[in-house]
Amino acid sequence: MTEAADKPAEKPAKSPNAPTEETVLSVKHYTDRMFSFRITRPSAFRFRSGEFVMIGLEGANGKPLLRAYSIASPSWDEELEFFSIKAPDGPLTSKLQLIRPGDKVLLGRKSTGTLVHDALTPGKRLYCFSTGTGLAPFASVIRDPETYERFEQVIVTHTCREVGELKYGQELVESLRDDPLVGEYFGRLVHYTTVTREPWPNQDRITTCIEKGTLFADLEVPPLDPAVDRVMVCGSMDMINDIKALVEKAGLKEGSNAHPAEFVIEKAFVG
Ligand code: A2P
Repeated sequence: MTEAADKPAEKPAKSPNAPTEETVLSVKHYTDRMFSFRITRPSAFRFRSGEFVMIGLEGANGKPLLRAYSIASPSWDEELEFFSIKAPDGPLTSKLQLIRPGDKVLLGRKSTGTLVHDALTPGKRLYCFSTGTGLAPFASVIRDPETYERFEQVIVTHTCREVGELKYGQELVESLRDDPLVGEYFGRLVHYTTVTREPWPNQDRITTCIEKGTLFADLEVPPLDPAVDRVMVCGSMDMINDIKALVEKAGLKEGSNAHPAEFVIEKAFVG
Protein backbone atom coordinates (compact mmCIF):
# COMPACT_ATOMS: atom_id res chain seq x y z
CA MET A 1 0.00 0.00 0.00
CA THR A 2 1.42 3.37 -0.90
CA GLU A 3 1.63 6.24 1.52
CA ALA A 4 -0.94 8.25 -0.41
CA ALA A 5 -3.50 5.44 -0.42
CA ASP A 6 -3.16 5.23 3.35
CA LYS A 7 -4.52 8.73 3.88
CA PRO A 8 -8.24 9.49 3.85
CA ALA A 9 -9.26 10.74 0.41
CA GLU A 10 -9.20 14.53 0.34
CA LYS A 11 -11.99 16.35 -1.45
CA PRO A 12 -10.32 18.05 -4.41
CA ALA A 13 -10.27 21.84 -4.02
CA LYS A 14 -12.75 23.52 -6.39
CA SER A 15 -10.95 25.13 -9.27
CA PRO A 16 -11.49 28.88 -9.57
CA ASN A 17 -12.94 28.11 -13.01
CA ALA A 18 -15.51 25.61 -11.68
CA PRO A 19 -19.14 26.50 -12.43
CA THR A 20 -21.08 28.42 -9.79
CA GLU A 21 -24.30 27.08 -8.31
CA GLU A 22 -27.28 29.30 -9.10
CA THR A 23 -30.92 29.24 -8.07
CA VAL A 24 -33.81 28.78 -10.48
CA LEU A 25 -36.16 31.76 -10.15
CA SER A 26 -38.89 30.87 -12.65
CA VAL A 27 -39.71 28.33 -15.35
CA LYS A 28 -42.19 28.66 -18.20
CA HIS A 29 -43.21 25.81 -20.49
CA TYR A 30 -44.40 26.74 -23.98
CA THR A 31 -44.85 23.38 -25.69
CA ASP A 32 -43.75 19.81 -25.09
CA ARG A 33 -40.53 20.77 -26.96
CA MET A 34 -39.63 24.19 -25.53
CA PHE A 35 -39.35 26.03 -22.23
CA SER A 36 -37.63 29.05 -20.74
CA PHE A 37 -36.17 29.62 -17.29
CA ARG A 38 -34.53 32.37 -15.26
CA ILE A 39 -31.76 31.96 -12.70
CA THR A 40 -29.80 34.15 -10.32
CA ARG A 41 -26.83 36.01 -11.79
CA PRO A 42 -23.61 36.25 -9.78
CA SER A 43 -22.46 39.86 -9.49
CA ALA A 44 -19.09 38.90 -11.00
CA PHE A 45 -20.67 37.30 -14.10
CA ARG A 46 -20.22 39.59 -17.08
CA PHE A 47 -21.23 38.92 -20.71
CA ARG A 48 -22.01 40.67 -23.97
CA SER A 49 -25.59 40.41 -25.27
CA GLY A 50 -25.72 37.48 -27.73
CA GLU A 51 -23.08 35.31 -26.03
CA PHE A 52 -23.40 31.76 -24.70
CA VAL A 53 -22.27 30.09 -21.47
CA MET A 54 -22.11 26.56 -20.06
CA ILE A 55 -25.23 25.57 -18.12
CA GLY A 56 -25.94 22.29 -16.44
CA LEU A 57 -26.76 20.06 -13.53
CA GLU A 58 -24.77 18.01 -11.09
CA GLY A 59 -24.64 14.51 -12.62
CA ALA A 60 -25.51 11.31 -10.75
CA ASN A 61 -21.77 10.45 -10.62
CA GLY A 62 -20.94 13.84 -9.06
CA LYS A 63 -19.58 15.11 -12.36
CA PRO A 64 -21.27 18.20 -13.76
CA LEU A 65 -23.29 17.70 -16.95
CA LEU A 66 -22.83 20.95 -18.86
CA ARG A 67 -23.86 22.23 -22.30
CA ALA A 68 -23.44 25.53 -24.12
CA TYR A 69 -26.52 27.73 -23.89
CA SER A 70 -27.14 31.12 -25.43
CA ILE A 71 -28.07 33.69 -22.81
CA ALA A 72 -31.50 35.06 -23.75
CA SER A 73 -31.48 37.98 -21.32
CA PRO A 74 -29.61 41.18 -22.15
CA SER A 75 -26.29 42.09 -20.53
CA TRP A 76 -27.88 44.70 -18.23
CA ASP A 77 -30.40 42.28 -16.65
CA GLU A 78 -29.89 41.32 -12.98
CA GLU A 79 -31.06 37.76 -13.73
CA LEU A 80 -30.11 35.31 -16.48
CA GLU A 81 -32.70 33.86 -18.86
CA PHE A 82 -32.46 30.81 -21.14
CA PHE A 83 -34.74 29.40 -23.85
CA SER A 84 -34.32 25.65 -24.18
CA ILE A 85 -35.38 22.67 -26.22
CA LYS A 86 -36.63 19.58 -24.36
CA ALA A 87 -34.99 16.62 -26.03
CA PRO A 88 -36.58 13.43 -24.61
CA ASP A 89 -33.28 11.56 -24.92
CA GLY A 90 -31.01 14.57 -24.36
CA PRO A 91 -28.66 13.79 -21.46
CA LEU A 92 -29.09 17.30 -20.05
CA THR A 93 -32.45 18.64 -21.28
CA SER A 94 -34.36 15.49 -20.34
CA LYS A 95 -33.48 16.43 -16.74
CA LEU A 96 -33.27 20.21 -17.06
CA GLN A 97 -36.87 20.42 -18.26
CA LEU A 98 -37.95 19.21 -14.80
CA ILE A 99 -36.38 22.11 -12.85
CA ARG A 100 -38.59 24.21 -10.59
CA PRO A 101 -38.08 27.51 -8.79
CA GLY A 102 -35.67 27.03 -5.91
CA ASP A 103 -33.70 24.23 -7.63
CA LYS A 104 -29.97 24.64 -8.29
CA VAL A 105 -28.32 24.75 -11.71
CA LEU A 106 -24.67 25.11 -12.63
CA LEU A 107 -23.44 28.18 -14.47
CA GLY A 108 -20.04 28.41 -16.17
CA ARG A 109 -17.92 31.41 -15.24
CA LYS A 110 -17.00 32.55 -18.73
CA SER A 111 -19.24 33.49 -21.62
CA THR A 112 -18.19 33.66 -25.25
CA GLY A 113 -19.65 33.80 -28.74
CA THR A 114 -19.76 35.46 -32.12
CA LEU A 115 -23.36 36.75 -32.24
CA VAL A 116 -22.15 40.06 -30.83
CA HIS A 117 -21.87 43.56 -32.19
CA ASP A 118 -18.07 43.43 -31.90
CA ALA A 119 -17.98 40.80 -34.67
CA LEU A 120 -19.91 42.91 -37.19
CA THR A 121 -18.80 46.01 -39.04
CA PRO A 122 -21.20 48.99 -38.91
CA GLY A 123 -24.32 48.74 -41.06
CA LYS A 124 -27.82 50.08 -41.47
CA ARG A 125 -30.02 47.01 -41.12
CA LEU A 126 -29.45 44.01 -38.82
CA TYR A 127 -31.02 40.66 -39.74
CA CYS A 128 -31.21 38.03 -36.98
CA PHE A 129 -32.20 34.74 -38.65
CA SER A 130 -33.32 32.04 -36.19
CA THR A 131 -35.06 28.69 -36.07
CA GLY A 132 -36.38 26.96 -32.95
CA THR A 133 -34.47 27.85 -29.78
CA GLY A 134 -31.96 29.61 -32.01
CA LEU A 135 -34.01 32.69 -31.15
CA ALA A 136 -32.34 32.80 -27.70
CA PRO A 137 -29.28 34.97 -28.47
CA PHE A 138 -31.51 37.42 -30.34
CA ALA A 139 -33.86 37.66 -27.36
CA SER A 140 -30.78 39.14 -25.70
CA VAL A 141 -29.66 41.32 -28.64
CA ILE A 142 -33.08 42.95 -29.22
CA ARG A 143 -33.35 43.93 -25.53
CA ASP A 144 -30.03 45.76 -25.66
CA PRO A 145 -30.20 49.49 -26.47
CA GLU A 146 -26.78 49.26 -28.15
CA THR A 147 -28.42 47.27 -30.96
CA TYR A 148 -30.59 50.25 -31.87
CA GLU A 149 -27.70 52.68 -31.48
CA ARG A 150 -25.83 50.67 -34.10
CA PHE A 151 -28.66 49.85 -36.53
CA GLU A 152 -31.57 51.81 -37.97
CA GLN A 153 -33.65 48.67 -38.42
CA VAL A 154 -33.54 45.29 -36.66
CA ILE A 155 -35.28 42.33 -38.34
CA VAL A 156 -35.66 39.15 -36.30
CA THR A 157 -36.96 36.16 -38.21
CA HIS A 158 -38.14 33.11 -36.30
CA THR A 159 -39.13 29.86 -38.02
CA CYS A 160 -40.57 26.97 -36.05
CA ARG A 161 -42.23 23.67 -36.77
CA GLU A 162 -45.36 24.54 -34.78
CA VAL A 163 -47.28 27.70 -33.96
CA GLY A 164 -46.91 27.21 -30.17
CA GLU A 165 -43.13 27.38 -30.53
CA LEU A 166 -43.38 31.03 -31.63
CA LYS A 167 -44.97 32.07 -28.34
CA TYR A 168 -41.79 32.85 -26.37
CA GLY A 169 -40.67 35.26 -29.10
CA GLN A 170 -44.11 36.77 -29.59
CA GLU A 171 -44.50 37.53 -25.89
CA LEU A 172 -40.99 38.90 -25.69
CA VAL A 173 -41.35 41.22 -28.68
CA GLU A 174 -44.75 42.45 -27.46
CA SER A 175 -43.25 43.22 -24.04
CA LEU A 176 -40.73 45.55 -25.68
CA ARG A 177 -43.45 47.91 -26.89
CA ASP A 178 -43.51 49.61 -23.46
CA ASP A 179 -40.04 48.65 -22.32
CA PRO A 180 -38.35 51.51 -20.43
CA LEU A 181 -34.98 50.88 -22.12
CA VAL A 182 -35.80 49.93 -25.71
CA GLY A 183 -39.51 50.80 -26.04
CA GLU A 184 -38.63 54.01 -27.86
CA TYR A 185 -37.04 51.92 -30.64
CA PHE A 186 -40.00 49.55 -30.98
CA GLY A 187 -40.97 50.94 -34.39
CA ARG A 188 -37.55 49.92 -35.74
CA LEU A 189 -37.88 46.28 -34.69
CA VAL A 190 -39.50 43.78 -37.08
CA HIS A 191 -40.53 40.30 -35.96
CA TYR A 192 -41.04 38.02 -38.99
CA THR A 193 -42.46 34.59 -38.18
CA THR A 194 -42.88 31.47 -40.29
CA VAL A 195 -44.19 28.02 -39.31
CA THR A 196 -43.44 24.96 -41.42
CA ARG A 197 -45.60 22.12 -40.08
CA GLU A 198 -48.88 23.79 -39.16
CA PRO A 199 -51.12 26.34 -40.85
CA TRP A 200 -49.73 29.90 -40.51
CA PRO A 201 -49.84 32.94 -42.80
CA ASN A 202 -46.26 32.17 -43.89
CA GLN A 203 -45.45 28.45 -44.09
CA ASP A 204 -42.08 28.68 -45.86
CA ARG A 205 -38.67 28.02 -44.35
CA ILE A 206 -36.79 31.31 -44.01
CA THR A 207 -34.29 30.08 -46.59
CA THR A 208 -37.14 29.79 -49.10
CA CYS A 209 -38.32 33.31 -48.19
CA ILE A 210 -34.83 34.63 -48.93
CA GLU A 211 -34.43 32.65 -52.14
CA LYS A 212 -37.86 33.59 -53.49
CA GLY A 213 -37.41 37.19 -52.33
CA THR A 214 -40.71 37.11 -50.43
CA LEU A 215 -38.94 38.18 -47.22
CA PHE A 216 -37.74 41.42 -48.81
CA ALA A 217 -41.05 42.02 -50.61
CA ASP A 218 -42.99 41.52 -47.36
CA LEU A 219 -40.68 43.89 -45.46
CA GLU A 220 -40.54 46.35 -48.35
CA VAL A 221 -36.74 46.44 -48.25
CA PRO A 222 -34.17 45.79 -50.98
CA PRO A 223 -32.49 42.34 -51.20
CA LEU A 224 -29.43 41.64 -49.02
CA ASP A 225 -26.68 44.15 -49.70
CA PRO A 226 -23.19 43.94 -48.13
CA ALA A 227 -22.98 47.74 -48.13
CA VAL A 228 -25.77 48.17 -45.58
CA ASP A 229 -26.99 44.80 -44.29
CA ARG A 230 -25.51 42.81 -41.41
CA VAL A 231 -26.63 39.28 -40.49
CA MET A 232 -26.57 37.07 -37.39
CA VAL A 233 -27.68 33.44 -37.72
CA CYS A 234 -28.60 30.86 -35.07
CA GLY A 235 -30.28 27.50 -35.63
CA SER A 236 -29.48 23.91 -36.56
CA MET A 237 -26.28 23.11 -38.46
CA ASP A 238 -28.24 22.55 -41.69
CA MET A 239 -30.09 25.83 -41.33
CA ILE A 240 -26.86 27.72 -40.67
CA ASN A 241 -25.16 26.18 -43.68
CA ASP A 242 -28.10 26.98 -45.95
CA ILE A 243 -28.35 30.60 -44.78
CA LYS A 244 -24.59 30.99 -44.97
CA ALA A 245 -24.64 29.95 -48.63
CA LEU A 246 -27.42 32.46 -49.36
CA VAL A 247 -25.80 35.43 -47.61
CA GLU A 248 -22.42 34.64 -49.15
CA LYS A 249 -24.11 34.54 -52.55
CA ALA A 250 -25.38 38.05 -51.77
CA GLY A 251 -21.75 39.10 -51.21
CA LEU A 252 -21.57 39.22 -47.39
CA LYS A 253 -18.38 38.02 -45.68
CA GLU A 254 -18.19 36.11 -42.40
CA GLY A 255 -16.91 38.00 -39.35
CA SER A 256 -15.47 37.07 -35.97
CA ASN A 257 -14.48 38.87 -32.79
CA ALA A 258 -10.93 39.22 -34.13
CA HIS A 259 -12.01 40.18 -37.66
CA PRO A 260 -15.43 41.87 -37.76
CA ALA A 261 -17.26 41.60 -41.08
CA GLU A 262 -20.79 41.35 -42.45
CA PHE A 263 -22.33 38.17 -41.03
CA VAL A 264 -21.83 35.84 -38.05
CA ILE A 265 -23.17 32.37 -37.22
CA GLU A 266 -23.66 30.14 -34.19
CA LYS A 267 -25.22 26.73 -33.76
CA ALA A 268 -28.20 26.50 -31.43
CA PHE A 269 -27.81 23.96 -28.65
CA VAL A 270 -29.84 20.83 -29.38
CA GLY A 271 -29.60 18.07 -26.82
P1 A2P B 1 -39.01 21.95 -41.44
O1 A2P B 1 -40.25 21.74 -40.63
O2 A2P B 1 -39.28 22.09 -42.91
O3 A2P B 1 -37.94 20.93 -41.14
P2 A2P B 1 -35.72 22.01 -36.08
O4 A2P B 1 -36.59 21.97 -34.83
O5 A2P B 1 -35.61 20.71 -36.79
O6 A2P B 1 -34.39 22.67 -35.83
O7 A2P B 1 -36.48 22.97 -37.07
C1 A2P B 1 -36.91 24.24 -36.69
C2 A2P B 1 -37.41 24.94 -37.92
O8 A2P B 1 -36.30 25.14 -38.80
C3 A2P B 1 -38.44 24.15 -38.68
O9 A2P B 1 -39.45 25.03 -39.08
C4 A2P B 1 -37.67 23.58 -39.84
O10 A2P B 1 -38.42 23.39 -41.03
C5 A2P B 1 -36.66 24.67 -40.09
N1 A2P B 1 -35.46 24.16 -40.76
C6 A2P B 1 -34.88 22.95 -40.59
N2 A2P B 1 -33.80 22.82 -41.36
C7 A2P B 1 -33.69 23.97 -42.06
C8 A2P B 1 -32.76 24.43 -43.04
N3 A2P B 1 -31.75 23.68 -43.47
N4 A2P B 1 -32.95 25.68 -43.52
C9 A2P B 1 -33.98 26.44 -43.10
N5 A2P B 1 -34.87 26.06 -42.18
C10 A2P B 1 -34.73 24.82 -41.67
